[in-house]
Amino acid sequence: MGERVVLVTGSTSGIGEATALAFASAGDHVVFNSAHSVEAGAGLAASTPGSLYIQADIARSEDCTRLIESTLAHFGRLDVLVNNAGTTRKIEHHDLESANLDVWREIFDVNVFGTWNLSVAAMTALRASKGTIVNVSSVAGSHSGGSSIPYSASKAALNQMTLLLAKAMGPDVRVNAVAPGLIATPWTQSWQRTHEFVSATAPLRRSGTPQDVAEVILALASASYVTGQIVTVDGGLML
Ligand SMILES: NC(=O)c1ccc[n+]([C@@H]2O[C@H](COP(=O)([O-])OP(=O)(O)OC[C@H]3O[C@@H](n4cnc5c(N)ncnc54)[C@H](OP(=O)(O)O)[C@@H]3O)[C@@H](O)[C@H]2O)c1
Repeated sequence: MGERVVLVTGSTSGIGEATALAFASAGDHVVFNSAHSVEAGAGLAASTPGSLYIQADIARSEDCTRLIESTLAHFGRLDVLVNNAGTTRKIEHHDLESANLDVWREIFDVNVFGTWNLSVAAMTALRASKGTIVNVSSVAGSHSGGSSIPYSASKAALNQMTLLLAKAMGPDVRVNAVAPGLIATPWTQSWQRTHEFVSATAPLRRSGTPQDVAEVILALASASYVTGQIVTVDGGLML
């Protein structure tokens, strides 16, 4: 596509990094972001022409405002927002005591409230550019799995947010989501048994790569008559 300004949250690692690099390879200007890994972000921006890194914790309202303002100050516009930053805790679903309200708040602060705040902060700029949002959800948002009940519930909330924002923000802004299955990133690095299970049972016989998800995010960012869709990227695992 080329020459769009694309902000990818949580883009110093995994799916976000692969997505930002794929947009940059297509000729777009990219804003890398993370809350903690500042050095990695600065390194990515230094090696990616026409890009920028902005540290911001999307769980903090003031950081969301600053992230959008800094993007606009540098590039003057915003065309694509990829809400990829997310967090989880691995808690067995039967372990109700461990999934206490502090855990629920910590996960919802990033995955739901942070995504909402940033989307609202970006909306004026996205309306002006007739832009688009792609949210990174999970198959855990609509199936009975996932690293913990609060995580799965947060992705279910994100799915519904995607549909309602798509309906409310048309015709100016399209809003879609991807729902990855198991993807090989630092996040799932230690989940060896799960990777083996997926490789044995998914129709495509392997875990996903960050690039597998990135290519669907890029497609949704350019699909001019698609809005309110949640596209599963799981190698057929949920069939
Ligand atoms: N991997 C999977 O199998 C899988 C499956 C389904 C869905 N997903 C979703 O995909 C997204 C990315 O996951 P991943 O596997 O690529 O994880 P990852 O490799 O751990 O990357 C997460 C990225 O998000 C950043 N981040 C975390 N909290 C942040 C915050 N509050 N504000 C800004 N940035 C933040 C991290 O940087 P810092 O920690 O340095 O801030 C990092 O750059 C998540 O939304 C996750 O729920 C992943």
